[in-house]
Amino acid sequence: MRIDIITCLPKLLESPFGHSILQRAQDKGIVEVVVHDLRAYALNKQKQLDDYAYGGGAGMVMQIEPIDNCITALKAKRTYDEVIYMTPDGETLNQQMANELSLRGNLIILCGHYKGVDERVRELFITREISIGDYVLSGGELGAAVLSDAIIRLIPGVLSDETSALTDSFQDNLLAPPVYTRPAEYKGMTVPEVLLSGHEKKIEEWRFQQSLDRTKSRRPDLLED
Ligand code: ADE
Repeated sequence: MRIDIITCLPKLLESPFGHSILQRAQDKGIVEVVVHDLRAYALNKQKQLDDYAYGGGAGMVMQIEPIDNCITALKAKRTYDEVIYMTPDGETLNQQMANELSLRGNLIILCGHYKGVDERVRELFITREISIGDYVLSGGELGAAVLSDAIIRLIPGVLSDETSALTDSFQDNLLAPPVYTRPAEYKGMTVPEVLLSGHEKKIEEWRFQQSLDRTKSRRPDLLED
């Protein structure tokens, strides 16, 4: 998979992709993440990317031409399955969307800033608009990092224990069960007996029941689907 991220703040994305699982996925050649500085496509020497909103009002709007030039240059080199725009008014990211997107080959993710992008960018280029939650961030970069992480960890070979992504919360519309590690007793708090029993079937049943109870009490909406 290849993910091209278009941003006016490329430095913001260095750290999320430079560590741990996302770095390893790139080192293993499973995913290629390429961050593009939109300023390289700016129209003037000042490297301006935004302009006043027609009709007035506070806040600047990202211009269409630099974005067009960047996306067009990328599309000239390969085909893309989706051109995603990170925006608080997009569809809210969930596990099912991450699963779907993890099966794609090439993705472009465009990060918005200021008051957002000229509406014509959305009409012309964007195939999918995604929000990471009902709150407003300063820009789309952190959202792009969240989305990429959720996608990349699902690609086979990225996680060392391939089954572990399958037992994540949300993967089967259930929250994950509680987990414990050594010591078996800490300040009088003990690990549930069944987990020490070595009885695989009982452990599996216990985990499923815990997942169900947790989902019922914390996220009953997940059980309605
Ligand atoms: N940009 C600003 N807020 C955002 C959000 N909640 N999700 C995705 N991109 C955003």
